[in-house]
Amino acid sequence: MLIPHDKISEIAQANDIIEVISGYIQVKKRGNSYLALCPFHQDKNPSLHISQQKQVYHCFSCKAGGNVFSFIENYEHVTFIDAVKKLAEKAGIALVFDSNSPDTSSEKSRLYEINKSAAIYFRNNINDLKSSEKELVTGYLDSRGLDKKTVNKFGIGYSYKSWDGLLHHFTEEDIFTPEEVEKSGLIIKKEDSKNTYYDRFRGRLMFPIFNEYDKIVGFGGRKLYEDDLGGKYINSPESKVYSKSRILYGLNFAKEKIRYYDYVILVEGYMDVIALYKNEIENAVASSGTALTEEQTRLLSRYTKNVYLLFDSDMAGIKAAKRGIELLLETGFDISIISLPFGEDPDSYIKNNGKKEFDKRIQERMSFINFIAEYYRKENKLESVEEKTIFIKEMIGYIAKIPDRIKRSLFIKEISGEYKLNESLLTDELNKFLRSGKNNSFPKSSLSLPEKKPEGSVKTAFGNNNFESELLELFIHGNDEALAYLENNLHTEYIKDRKILSITEKILDELINHGSLDISAVINELKEDGEKEILSRISNSRYEASYLEKSGSDNLLSQSANPVYTIKNAEDLVKKFRIRELEIKRSEIRSDPGKMLEVFEITKEINELMKN
Ligand code: UTP
Ligand code: MN
Repeated sequence: MLIPHDKISEIAQANDIIEVISGYIQVKKRGNSYLALCPFHQDKNPSLHISQQKQVYHCFSCKAGGNVFSFIENYEHVTFIDAVKKLAEKAGIALVFDSNSPDTSSEKSRLYEINKSAAIYFRNNINDLKSSEKELVTGYLDSRGLDKKTVNKFGIGYSYKSWDGLLHHFTEEDIFTPEEVEKSGLIIKKEDSKNTYYDRFRGRLMFPIFNEYDKIVGFGGRKLYEDDLGGKYINSPESKVYSKSRILYGLNFAKEKIRYYDYVILVEGYMDVIALYKNEIENAVASSGTALTEEQTRLLSRYTKNVYLLFDSDMAGIKAAKRGIELLLETGFDISIISLPFGEDPDSYIKNNGKKEFDKRIQERMSFINFIAEYYRKENKLESVEEKTIFIKEMIGYIAKIPDRIKRSLFIKEISGEYKLNESLLTDELNKFLRSGKNNSFPKSSLSLPEKKPEGSVKTAFGNNNFESELLELFIHGNDEALAYLENNLHTEYIKDRKILSITEKILDELINHGSLDISAVINELKEDGEKEILSRISNSRYEASYLEKSGSDNLLSQSANPVYTIKNAEDLVKKFRIRELEIKRSEIRSDPGKMLEVFEITKEINELMKN
């Protein structure tokens, strides 16, 4: 591996020699210099001198000497390259920036490489800035507390205030054509011209957005200039590698810690994740300004079932928190809410109050019930009997979302204690809710995290009118086009069978991250009872499966023992899912006279879909 010269000096700059050596041996400060017992010979009196100013060490006794890298080389008996790598990692200089030759084997890996190349370009810009632009950007970084280490860790960069900075970079690099780069959304084709392009991000601080496997899927660009008329953040558009609803910003950095602490802090913004990280709170991820999606909760559920919501303390944040609470309860998470004084976000709070106060906020997190009660109280909406009734009903609405019956009854107990209400009265109310279907539980409940695995769910998965099993067949026997179609158009909310949902997620992960589907690799990932069996059974079946007959493709069957499903099959199936979804929604609101218009719209949409 060839590490460019400026990269090496950057890594050296990010690792102070005193700090590094202190990590191995005891270092004492004497006046302006630092002394230690030399680890390279039998030293009785400290003869190793370390100069912070020059960033070198020297032993007056055995004559050993060098810089941070040589210290690691000699102390750990590793090669220079390994020493560099080690310090890069320590400084948070992401391995993503290794200059391995690019993987251009599939369309997806090319998109990842394009994003990576752009990230390196943006990051190098920060070091190459001149005069007023430099002042502005470094000033901004300073004001946001983005030190070198943090910038490195998160791969933060800068897009020049020009129309073709990145475009030039790619022309010079000459690996990817502009047509390809356009697919990443980084450059945009001019409307009036066939092959002129311009940069999407101009004069912005660039945050690479990583997927959970450290691949860069897109960017968020923060506005820096007054005369920039775009939004505060501009983000990459969706692409073959970037689906907003499936990404949680920071998950790649946080996932180990989330597992370790068994909870995740869910925040709204890029800067919030980064500010917390800087303060050694490394288990935070951001929904990045969009409402939390089911796919995101599913991603999280692989690491923990405990979410601490930490949203901006403004009206929008409270609204988002409420929506988040609903979805997280539905999907079986245990949630707490960390609240901040009005007007603050996590980034500003920790900056103004310090880590200690912030930790206190985490300690003082509250249940969602208390959070909502507090909100009512602040708005003075808990005074009259009527107001209290509204509050209790809202609470019961939330509780009704919880799939676990025992948890539901515990929450009911809590409210009854807190508000001196008869428990059975509350239970009645809850049951009314559950029966009325207001809690929307039919479509969602099957998606919740396992509370108790219902027996026989495999059977239902293969029952009549079951698109779920057809879906797996399509995944297994579909051609590339069909798979790509599914990947981009299948919403996982469509899938009502928990096991098949879980299998599908693994399949999608495999597709997203490898650009192709290796069923045996997916099988390795399946952990829940029965999942492996379902998938292996369908992969090994002789394809006399229902799907072919139903979709009238029996000539395919007779032609070959290895039928290949096409994009047409995929489109049909997604359409059927969509129709089923709409029908479910319609049946939920049908009896509500206030929703007649909506029912009408849905019916129209269903008819439209059936026609084509
Ligand atoms: P915030 O405005 O809270 O972002 O929006 P922030 O990260 O705290 O930004 P600073 O501190 O002002 O720099 C939360 C998230 O919503 C998305 C971004 O992902 C942002 O991090 N967002 C916000 C956009 O995509 N576009 C916008 O115009 C604003
Ligand atoms: Mn903010």
